Amino acid sequence: MGYKINDELIERIRDTIDIVDVVSRYVNLRKTGSNYVGLCPFHNEKTPSFTVSETKNLFHCFGCGEGGDLITFIMKKENLSFVESIKFLADMYNIPVDISDNSSYSEAKKEKEKIYKINREAGLFYFYNLRKSPKPLRYLKDRNINENIMTKFGLGYASDSWNQIYNYLRSKGFEDKDIEKSGLISRKKDNTGYYDKFVNRVIFPIIDIKDRIIGFGGRVLDDRKPKYLNSPDTPVFEKGKNLFGLNIVHKNSNREKIILVEGYMDVISLYNYGIDYAVASLGTAFTQYQARLLKRYGKNIYICYDSDDAGIKATLKALNILEKEEAEPRVIMLPDNLDPDDFIKKYGLEEFKNLESNALSSIDYRIYILRQKYSLNRAEEKIKFIKEVAAIIKALKSPVEREIYINRIASETNISKEAIEREVLGNLYKPSITIYKDKYINGKIRNNKNEITPVKTVLESAHLTAEKNLVGLMMKSRSYYDMVKKHINKEDFLNYECKAIADIIYNEYENNPLLAKLDIQTLMSRLEKEDNIDFEIVKEVAELDIVAEDMEKLIRDLIKTINYFKLKMERKLVANRIKQLDYKKDKEKGDVEELKRLCIRLTELDKELKLHI
Ligand code: GTP
Ligand code: MN
Repeated sequence: MGYKINDELIERIRDTIDIVDVVSRYVNLRKTGSNYVGLCPFHNEKTPSFTVSETKNLFHCFGCGEGGDLITFIMKKENLSFVESIKFLADMYNIPVDISDNSSYSEAKKEKEKIYKINREAGLFYFYNLRKSPKPLRYLKDRNINENIMTKFGLGYASDSWNQIYNYLRSKGFEDKDIEKSGLISRKKDNTGYYDKFVNRVIFPIIDIKDRIIGFGGRVLDDRKPKYLNSPDTPVFEKGKNLFGLNIVHKNSNREKIILVEGYMDVISLYNYGIDYAVASLGTAFTQYQARLLKRYGKNIYICYDSDDAGIKATLKALNILEKEEAEPRVIMLPDNLDPDDFIKKYGLEEFKNLESNALSSIDYRIYILRQKYSLNRAEEKIKFIKEVAAIIKALKSPVEREIYINRIASETNISKEAIEREVLGNLYKPSITIYKDKYINGKIRNNKNEITPVKTVLESAHLTAEKNLVGLMMKSRSYYDMVKKHINKEDFLNYECKAIADIIYNEYENNPLLAKLDIQTLMSRLEKEDNIDFEIVKEVAELDIVAEDMEKLIRDLIKTINYFKLKMERKLVANRIKQLDYKKDKEKGDVEELKRLCIRLTELDKELKLHI
């Protein structure tokens, strides 16, 4: 083996990679309670007995007894050794593998150990120093922070001296170069010695989930600038990769919720009032890495930044970053330019909880912010508002969601739904068609030249869902395809994308008798030739995650649904045609015969439709 796997890498992999994310690449998982279940990849089964616990970071199959953590999972699934699995996971999640020999690895480890030790000594020193310093004690008391909270967060005080912590750490036997690496002191410009970084400040230790002090924040006791100082990045501290308060959340919270706030004092003050699931992003811009941490430590993620302009900007950025991680964050909105600390002190826990339960989804928040920005009774501002909202709605994956927001914005602005739809769809816009009798023959849609044309049909949502599910299932297995094709032709799919996918599915299975399933790559390469495909829908279909106790029954039901809507559509056409002929003044012989036929068909259709109810 050309590289050594160090403990730190293993730790990092266990700490940062979500087992659910890994397993989902192999198994369709479905959330049930606090666990996920799916069909076991290690033995054959029809009903799921394979469970994954995100909080415990473990998987277990009650059917075959396999179990372990994400590394074991990869070992078994990819048939790799432990070391190879580590490498495999590190590659998959872009975690750098230190290709260093043992000696430099243990040196780096020793260096870190030393910094942890220095931080710990310093933290304790600051902690006891606070107890005998009336000024900061008074300051904290004025901010509503009692003994318990001080102890819980290990708050401390750096005195008004330029070498207090330096001298103390020296007296404990630490060397200059190590103390310097901890970031607690800086070298003087003229190189004649060192001075303390934190002077006359309340100290907030930043503690990781293993209870190690990785860095410090320090606040002045008055209005001097800078208000806060933070440790620089050190071998044990990377700001963008940590969150203040995570140690508390890790221990106390049931991981149902996590709230992201801006400041140290927000976390502490919320805790003081009973909210033990808040973390702060440490004064740096919120990072992708921190987004992953939030996802890991809270099922529901809330952002509660200050309600000033900077806070709004930061909220919008954090929403973007979280959504890139496929999280569904919500925003807790504070009134009157307050921050969480001010708010909870002024209004209390109940009111805060109230805001929490009224937190806005990210789209609602974005629209809310736009509404504040533009005055809707001025035409040109209204136009800007709609254009910006349209861009937001366009990003929504679910057509149902899009529809809901389009309707809402239409009624709010008094602009027609169609106009907003056009704005949302941009170039993709195709008016929803009404199918007339002469265009609709035996369930196929024909244009004037009598060619079958794909049309962007707007389907009822249950119909659309059934089409998507059925197409998605047929991709997954030929056996599903065989069940479906007996009852449904590829022309029966009416949604533009589903029809295009069905076309490919039917062709691929028929032309390749050994093909067991249709993979996404093949599908995508075939679809490249098609125009106007909404790839969001394709992606949704291809990634559908369907677990059913009885798959055959599910498929029968889906077929029934599609047939039901087909009958409904035909009924509408027949009824229209009857009306048309009926109104005709000079009926020809052919008309009368057609009318008779149509009436019989209408009765049949009604009978069939009744069976479906
Ligand atoms: P309080 O005034 O103590 O309530 O602070 P706050 O938490 O309300 O502060 P603010 O909203 O101004 O800042 C939020 C967070 O940004 C702080 O907790 C710090 O982490 C960081 N921060 C604020 N001011 C500074 C600064 O001057 N320098 C640095 N590096 N970070 C700061
Ligand atoms: Mn504040």
